[in-house]
Amino acid sequence: MTQLRKITFAETNLDALDGVQGAVGVLINAAGTLNPSARRVNRLTKGAVARAIESTAWESLPQGEAMVLSMPVGLQAEAVVLIKLERKPGVAEARKAGASLAKAVGSKAVTLLAEGTGRPADIALGLALRGYKFSEYLSDKGEAPGDAVVWVKDPGAEAKAVSDALAVAEGVFFTRDLVSEPANILGTVEFANRLQGLRDLGVEVDVLEEDKLAELGMGALLAVGQGSVSPSKVVVMRWNGGTGAPLALVGKGVVFDTGGISIKPAAGMEDMTMDMGGAGVVSGVMKTLALRGAKANVVGLVGLVENMPDGKAMRPGDIVKSMRGVSIEVVNTDAEGRLVLADVLWHTQEAEKPAAIIDLATLTGACVIALGHENAGVFSNDDGFAGQFMKAAEAEGEGAWRLPLGKGYDEQIKTLKADIKNTGGRPAGASTAAVFLQRFIAEDMPWIHLDIAGVAQVGKETPFAPKGATGWGVMALDRLVRDQFEKS
Ligand code: BES
Ligand code: MN
Ligand code: ZN
Repeated sequence: MTQLRKITFAETNLDALDGVQGAVGVLINAAGTLNPSARRVNRLTKGAVARAIESTAWESLPQGEAMVLSMPVGLQAEAVVLIKLERKPGVAEARKAGASLAKAVGSKAVTLLAEGTGRPADIALGLALRGYKFSEYLSDKGEAPGDAVVWVKDPGAEAKAVSDALAVAEGVFFTRDLVSEPANILGTVEFANRLQGLRDLGVEVDVLEEDKLAELGMGALLAVGQGSVSPSKVVVMRWNGGTGAPLALVGKGVVFDTGGISIKPAAGMEDMTMDMGGAGVVSGVMKTLALRGAKANVVGLVGLVENMPDGKAMRPGDIVKSMRGVSIEVVNTDAEGRLVLADVLWHTQEAEKPAAIIDLATLTGACVIALGHENAGVFSNDDGFAGQFMKAAEAEGEGAWRLPLGKGYDEQIKTLKADIKNTGGRPAGASTAAVFLQRFIAEDMPWIHLDIAGVAQVGKETPFAPKGATGWGVMALDRLVRDQFEKS
């Protein structure tokens, strides 16, 4: 498990500044008026700060970004990191500043002089998030990151905001680790084991095994896993922090997607270790909610399967029966995620009686073609609910874009031999997948489907993560719970 850098808040102690080890972070507004902390650093370094911010490099530096002064005179620290940030920054700028600091200091210990600047907890969140590194399988893991201390006027006043922010970072790290793990380690059994670890945080965890899934009639989900030696499982995680019907989060957890008998091409197939990304996000959100003691009822369900070709694997042309009773012609075994979700979605409504459902899935390549790696696809039968989600995603800086459902797309999944088929051809592949899922949503159930195929894992670094797993969605969903489900 990737550990968060240790981040603590302490009262500003400028008299101890010259002895601080590692790096010292200094926040300076665009106008270049130095606050008392910055003035003290400037004085100790014999004017290095003032000189730096007179440079053209500083002038052209965007908000939230950093400039490093190495081996400053007058300090024991190895570096002074100047970060351009207004005294009352927005959430995004504050987090960006923290991320820039994390990137600039690497594994060095760091003391951030944040007195006089707003949103120190958001700065800490950015610092934590950008410090992620999946080094589980590296012989040389490099240095463990040194501690971060944030100096503020009154640490006690920030305590709740800071612990909430760190709960978010812990959830995001949990998701990123799950997404980063290869399938020989994170099979269905190990995935379920890790989720059972959430019990320590007060999450109620049930694991439904294959015999139970068969008894429930989950013929679609079980068909996907029948070619794998790893047993299919559904894991139910309940966080009971509030009252009333829960919000349900449902995740696609295909621990590896070969495509099955409709096998994928070799090039790039290794990326399908991330095909459990939806389940990863659901798990990360549950962890965050538990860590921060959210006052809401939220239930997370993940369908864990592996899609392998084998003598026992489902074939193209097979007709399977879903738990809802809808028969499905499997015309392409690589359109497996929707088969898994069909049964988990229906079971969620039957067993958990939720107030609303959000599913997340690395569902279609078509969504990646449409939106790239900037935005997840958002599909919903409820404009009010979708609007709430869009607002939460915007507030957290996680890209999300509405895409259509509709009767026309549903026509594309009709077939002669069964109620529906599992693909709708090439046109609008993300929407035909979404209307397939909608077949398993009750008429009056507020529902959002998030296609995260393009955003769960990306090929280049982002402001808050190195190249690889992003944890996209944990922050937006935590925000949605806060804003819409915790109103007391
Ligand atoms: N897991 C894939 C979708 C995917 C593609 C996720 C790229 C992440 C990156 C999904 O199971 C799949 O194979 N979908 C097919 C559906 C098609 C056969 C209708 C696809 O998108 O090609
Ligand atoms: Mn597939
Ligand atoms: Zn898949």
